[in-house]
Amino acid sequence: MEPIRVLITGAAGQIAYSLILQVAKGDVFGSSQPVILHLLDITPMMGVLEGVVMEIEDCALPLVKSVVSTDDLETAFKDIDAAFLVGSMPRKQGMERKDLLSGNVKIFKTQGDALNKYAKKSVKVLIVGNPANTNAFICAKYAPSIPKESITAMTRLDHNRARANIAKRLSVTADKVKNVIIWGNHSSTQFPDIKSAIVNLPQGSTSVYNAIKDENWIKTDFIKTIQARGAAVINARKMSSAMSAAKAAADHMKDIWCGTPFGEYTSMGVMSDGSYGIPKDIVFSFPVTTQNKTWKIVQNLEINDFMRSMLDVTTKELVEEREEALVVCKD
Ligand code: NAI
Repeated sequence: MEPIRVLITGAAGQIAYSLILQVAKGDVFGSSQPVILHLLDITPMMGVLEGVVMEIEDCALPLVKSVVSTDDLETAFKDIDAAFLVGSMPRKQGMERKDLLSGNVKIFKTQGDALNKYAKKSVKVLIVGNPANTNAFICAKYAPSIPKESITAMTRLDHNRARANIAKRLSVTADKVKNVIIWGNHSSTQFPDIKSAIVNLPQGSTSVYNAIKDENWIKTDFIKTIQARGAAVINARKMSSAMSAAKAAADHMKDIWCGTPFGEYTSMGVMSDGSYGIPKDIVFSFPVTTQNKTWKIVQNLEINDFMRSMLDVTTKELVEEREEALVVCKD
């Protein structure tokens, strides 16, 4: 099988440290798909990246055909088939994601341009670096020759957190819970929704709502816990989520590459097409299914007044972020 070229940016950072191994072992693109790893970081990190490359070699992995480690955009983006755009500044303790916006969107403007110039037109791009949704919007804007559908933002970590939280409450493993939804922004305004979620209990399959029997908890504690989970990890670890973020990035790209399991949907930040009354031209997390390397928004889910008010809050934030980002990128 021909190797594919997979770019990971921020390759000397903590998420990449877990992600590279998953890609290199075949967890993402398949256990028989060889890869050429393209690793990009900034010039001062080249020494650290050299150490990461040594470790990749020492893993003795059969699927890794070669490694390109670089601080040069053209070398990094040349002919790539898939990209994990992770590299950016992480949120520090006490920092809101908005504080990150002005520094990080410029990185994604530059990298959108590099995608446009050097990547394969069929490239599939996952934006992990925060603010992920708005970075994806900017990246797509500056990569006009790449279909907008091919650039998606990561809300899979929030999705996995919601799934795991429900599973823990119902004393089952996370794989027994499906079809949770993260709507909106990867931020504290996100709406974790379990209205259509299903759980497979020993006595049979039922809706999560029926199994939990506590609407008040679902509408308050559950939502707040998922919204604030990233901050809770930072408080405890003094660094932002890395192992779980890398696993989520791998899950997201695997679903793009291989498709979602039959009857299941996942959550992804995608360019809104106006579904569910969400304005077009913001990268919004929707429930999606994937097949043949493309996603489709799950349609016809019922949206009640409570859900609508939650969607409105996160929509407002994304529209504001987009406007701020457009101003920053004009400079
Ligand atoms: P880190 O600080 O450990 O690593 C980031 C790496 O990116 C560093 O090595 C840095 O030198 C590099 N970098 C900075 N500017 C770059 C550029 N222009 N080109 C290439 N590389 C560049 O950070 P970590 O923990 O790996 O997080 C990376 C990003 O992922 C952060 O923005 C963080 O907020 C975000 N994140 C997103 C999540 C999501 O669910 N969407 C979850 C967790 C983190």
